Amino acid sequence: MRVLISGKNSQMGQTLFSMDKELSHDLKFLDSKSMDLKDLDCINSTISSYDPDIVINFSAYTDVDEAEDNLNEVNLINSIAPKYLARASKQANAFFIQISTDYVFGEFDNPPFSSLSKTGPLNSYGLSKLKGEENSLEENDKSIIIRTSSLYSEFGNNFVKNIAKKLINKEDLKIISDQKISMTYADDFINALIAILDEKKLKNIVLPKLPLILHYSSDGFTTWYNVANEIIKNLNQYFDKLGTITPITYLEWSSKATRPKDSRLSIDYSLLSSLDIKLNPWELGVKEVLKKLYS
Ligand SMILES: NC(=O)c1ccc[n+]([C@@H]2O[C@H](COP(=O)([O-])OP(=O)(O)OC[C@H]3O[C@@H](n4cnc5c(N)ncnc54)[C@H](OP(=O)(O)O)[C@@H]3O)[C@@H](O)[C@H]2O)c1
Repeated sequence: MRVLISGKNSQMGQTLFSMDKELSHDLKFLDSKSMDLKDLDCINSTISSYDPDIVINFSAYTDVDEAEDNLNEVNLINSIAPKYLARASKQANAFFIQISTDYVFGEFDNPPFSSLSKTGPLNSYGLSKLKGEENSLEENDKSIIIRTSSLYSEFGNNFVKNIAKKLINKEDLKIISDQKISMTYADDFINALIAILDEKKLKNIVLPKLPLILHYSSDGFTTWYNVANEIIKNLNQYFDKLGTITPITYLEWSSKATRPKDSRLSIDYSLLSSLDIKLNPWELGVKEVLKKLYS
């Protein structure tokens, strides 16, 4: 299958790119230079010239705090561009896969959130991503939304890499211990995505369920403090001395954007199992990332 991917340099894009050689699909990766999502006119021409079977959008304005001050740009990249991507995919008769976030939740309902839970974002990033979901589903009846949470990998900017670096620099850190989260190892996420990129599964399992909103994270819920503890446990194998961590409460941490105190995603295990998607505990991914970076 011909698969067009926006977001070559994202954590997800780099992870998929690193697995590209093992795949039988014809994958074309685009960065923001080859398709700038702020240039809406170029979206349609780029997609139609490639004539894909599937378009995947990893690109987003992902700085949650900065997003509060850049509403127009955030809206353009996270809400309007997915509309154009979904529309152009429809014209090419292609599936459109839009990646979304746990931050579409927080105002209503009881976590862990299922794909049927009522959305209600608490920050501008979450609101823009929710509009991106709605626009994608409205424009293309072959749109698939995959919501995920707290992504980490050896690439880009993420909690596991950032905290590890600070601990190795012997910094003493305060980490929130009462915020409940789902964590997602990018390798697990991309393996799940690859499992869906299969003509038979798309036709027999996904098509009858469209429009489809899927939740995917690594297995098990946690807190940022537990993740930091896991980082220390792993780094102790590679370094003699590290910084320390002290637990603080959600209320003690201040940031520009409000985040949900509990954004755990509930997983539809039977749907994932019908797609041959496996889940690994989040701790395993932390171990693997730190091993890749420091062993
Ligand atoms: N990171 C998380 O914790 C998390 C959690 C839940 C959901 N998600 C979602 O998962 C997806 C991937 O996240 P990620 O962490 O892998 O992303 P990331 O590493 O933050 O990368 C975002 C990418 O978006 C691209 N981008 C930004 N503005 C663009 C524009 N105007 N035109 C084209 N591309 C543009 C950038 O491309 P260039 O580098 O080429 O400029 C960048 O590589 C996103 O949809 C995000 O919302 C992420």
